Amino acid sequence: MSFPKRYTITAALPYTNGPVHIGHLAGVYVPADIYARYQRLQHKDVVFVCGSDEHGVPITLKAKKEGITPQEVVDKYHAIIKQSFEDFGISFDNYSRTSAKVHHETASTFFKTLYEKGKFIEEVTEQLYDEEAQQFLADRFVIGTCPKCGNEESYGDQCEKCGTSHNATDLIHPKSAITGSKPILKETKHWFLPLDQYEGWLKEWILEGHQRDWKSNVYGQCKSWIDDGLRPRAVTRDLDWGIPVPVEGAEGKVLYVWFDAPIGYISATKEWGEKEGKDWEPYWKDEETKLLHFIGKDNIVFHCIIFPSMLKADGSYILPDNVPANEFLNLEGNKISTSKNWAVWLHEYLNDFPNQQDVLRYVLTANAPETKDNDFTWSDFQARNNNELVAIFGNFINRVAVLTQKYYEGAIPKPTAFSEIDHQTLKELQIYPAVIGSSIEKYRFREAQSELMNVARLGNKYLADEEPWKTIKNDAERTQTVMYVALQIAAALAVLSEPFLPFTSEKLKGILQFEKLDKILSWEHVSDTSGLLPEAHTIGKSELLFSKIEDEQITQQLEKLEASKKANEAMNSSVTPQKETISFEDFSKLDLRVGTIIEAEKMPKTKKLLVLKVDTGIDIRTIVSGIAESFTAEEVVGKKVTVLVNLAPRALRGVESQGMILMSENSEGKLVFVNPGEEGVLPGATIS
Ligand code: MF3
Ligand code: ZN
Repeated sequence: MSFPKRYTITAALPYTNGPVHIGHLAGVYVPADIYARYQRLQHKDVVFVCGSDEHGVPITLKAKKEGITPQEVVDKYHAIIKQSFEDFGISFDNYSRTSAKVHHETASTFFKTLYEKGKFIEEVTEQLYDEEAQQFLADRFVIGTCPKCGNEESYGDQCEKCGTSHNATDLIHPKSAITGSKPILKETKHWFLPLDQYEGWLKEWILEGHQRDWKSNVYGQCKSWIDDGLRPRAVTRDLDWGIPVPVEGAEGKVLYVWFDAPIGYISATKEWGEKEGKDWEPYWKDEETKLLHFIGKDNIVFHCIIFPSMLKADGSYILPDNVPANEFLNLEGNKISTSKNWAVWLHEYLNDFPNQQDVLRYVLTANAPETKDNDFTWSDFQARNNNELVAIFGNFINRVAVLTQKYYEGAIPKPTAFSEIDHQTLKELQIYPAVIGSSIEKYRFREAQSELMNVARLGNKYLADEEPWKTIKNDAERTQTVMYVALQIAAALAVLSEPFLPFTSEKLKGILQFEKLDKILSWEHVSDTSGLLPEAHTIGKSELLFSKIEDEQITQQLEKLEASKKANEAMNSSVTPQKETISFEDFSKLDLRVGTIIEAEKMPKTKKLLVLKVDTGIDIRTIVSGIAESFTAEEVVGKKVTVLVNLAPRALRGVESQGMILMSENSEGKLVFVNPGEEGVLPGATIS
């Protein structure tokens, strides 16, 4: 499909259980936005949709944690996320949400259609059930060991370490995320999409049809799943948050979030159609539409295997032409984590760097994790801003605008004879739209953006070589021509930067006063030999497009991250809170002595107990101690210990214990003696 009529571009619906961070932006939303903006500049019929993914277990868990309802959780984060996307110029035609009525209807109808066509298997199976919480444990409600890679923290539906998607019952040693208890198996009825029946078709469609045009990371993952053999997947869940299963006998059941969420792309398109007075159907059903899903790598199986199988089962939809998935972005060497607050949150970034959205967009694209995981560092952020945006792009524009004002009061001068260099420079400029466009079409956004910077480099080199500030002294005509050429490069930058740096592009178009031209300059005009800015058109005053980022700003960001790290460490060490205050009289009732263990033997038929003979200085007495899992009897003989000697005696397994040995726990959870330490302390010495 080399010349599609229209484009349906989707970006993964973010889970609405937290704000969005740079990882989201770099992996999904900036590349999708560059692509959508580029296609609009090609005058293509584009719809670019997204929305909040508001069902699913993560939201329920968040609500439980915060003591609010799931609806309150999604309302809060939907607003924050939507605002962040707007602030960063992500040009969705519609940003919807899966709690919207149109979505509930669309997803229900979708399910019902497949149900009526007999596309599901209905089956009673045993599922994990938490008896304490009285709830089935699906997806993120259960944690256990991944059967494929051994990761001990895999979720019920997916392992984040190896990316495998599995059924909750596949987990080894499953544990409830709600109560921590070990689940039992309990029967329940669900509807399954028999993916095994789609295997042959998926092989043909993906493995044979998209070997060349899909990214190798995407193709590779698909191949491995298909080669491993596909199994039926449950598309319903026993949960109370989600879209009710719209058939009889399904009370208390909802659609699996990964069944409803991708349908959200369709609902968002419908909602857009209603607002714009457009028919949504061609965007999803006409073969001449190119459907593209921009996602992160953890979403590949859902967008390449499960959702296409759903679309195929329905039969009236088109399939994605490509699924350009990115790898992950790390932050200062560590995995970005919402729960550990190891992230750069978009709304916080804007407080610290107001109006500098394009700087972040630029850096994230320059470092986009297109073929492998990549790292975001604040020092790289600063360097790219100062050495590239300020020194190359900003500097060129500033020189052109300032000189045009100074020499010609802002009016584009009339060129005279073009030299060989001028011709070459203009010719080189004219091929950039094709060069940049071809990289974008191949989803190579880093490459595309670096070609954009080459346009600014071309301009800088041209000025440095032709030196209009020198020729102005004795060659007015030459200077006019040089400035004319430089202004064409500036105008080209205004057009070509739009997909990448939309705010800068806007600002630059303002400086160059594009609004006063009689045509709207677009991508194709940059290749036009007749030029972009006609002579006598006037431009406005120069404004700085970028400004230097100082060391202190970077230090501040690093300190912020350091603080998160500390807070995490403190949280993980989970110190038991202090008990109630007691009086000195209370304390002085305790009779603590230094003692020595002189004999020890295991209490028969117990796991934990050792029977000790302890020299307390007062006497030699028997103490039963629950330390046998941490020590052998031989090991403890001769150890100096702290003994509470006036504890009322009590019988343990028929042996009277006459005191208690004080113990602590080391960082690995092993018991250790509270050792009276200092040399020369003798049995019987009091501790006070
Ligand atoms: N919410 C999912 C995530 O953040 C993505 C859902 S994409 C959709 O990983 F296709 F289901 F919408
Ligand atoms: Zn795994």
